Amino acid sequence: MLKIVVCVSGGGTNLQAIIDGIAQGAIYNTKIVRVVCNNPGAGALERAKAAGIEGVCVSPKDYEDRERFEAALVRAVEEADPDLIVLAGFLVKVPAALIKHYENRIINIHPSLIPAFCGTGYYGLRVHEAALSRGVKITGATVHFVDEGMDTGPIIMQKAVEVHEDDTPKTLQRRVMEEAEWVILPWCINLIAAGQIKLENGRVIVTG
Ligand code: GAR
Repeated sequence: MLKIVVCVSGGGTNLQAIIDGIAQGAIYNTKIVRVVCNNPGAGALERAKAAGIEGVCVSPKDYEDRERFEAALVRAVEEADPDLIVLAGFLVKVPAALIKHYENRIINIHPSLIPAFCGTGYYGLRVHEAALSRGVKITGATVHFVDEGMDTGPIIMQKAVEVHEDDTPKTLQRRVMEEAEWVILPWCINLIAAGQIKLENGRVIVTG
């Protein structure tokens, strides 16, 4: 059984896709042991509660400095003893200690086709604003392993999505979520649970 901790900051639609994927059997042999959130007002915490999953909030506002906040965040994850950490719309830079301890066991969903529109400052709606300003005709989403860089880890899966001429950042965000994010994130978790993801020379290979 793959035990996962899901880290969230916002509405939690990707968390919901994982919850539904497990319930409907699209994700086998996996259990969400805890949801960790940095934002007390996040809808994601409500979704966890509704699904009977323990939600733990670690807000930077409750700590004197960054160091103490990060230590609390690391504790909240480690206490749950996960096999895999899933960043599902988690808008906090992951503490280095966590990345080291969980090397190749942290994955992130990003709402663009990396290496486009990623890195520092590219998160949430901003990614789609940038894609529209650049005038790309195709965008999408990427699931990747998390390393010390910002959106630089090995890519596990990507899915392309068409940009429409009349898109706004919000309509594009929604289409990328529906057509790509909610599909590939559960899919990748299932592949990892099935032991079908291998890393070779910094590249991901899907086996089986
Ligand atoms: C998602 O679009 C996710 O890809 C993005 O935040 C949104 C969270 O939505 N993540 C990033 O931008 C990470 N750089 P959700 O809370 O409804 O899942």
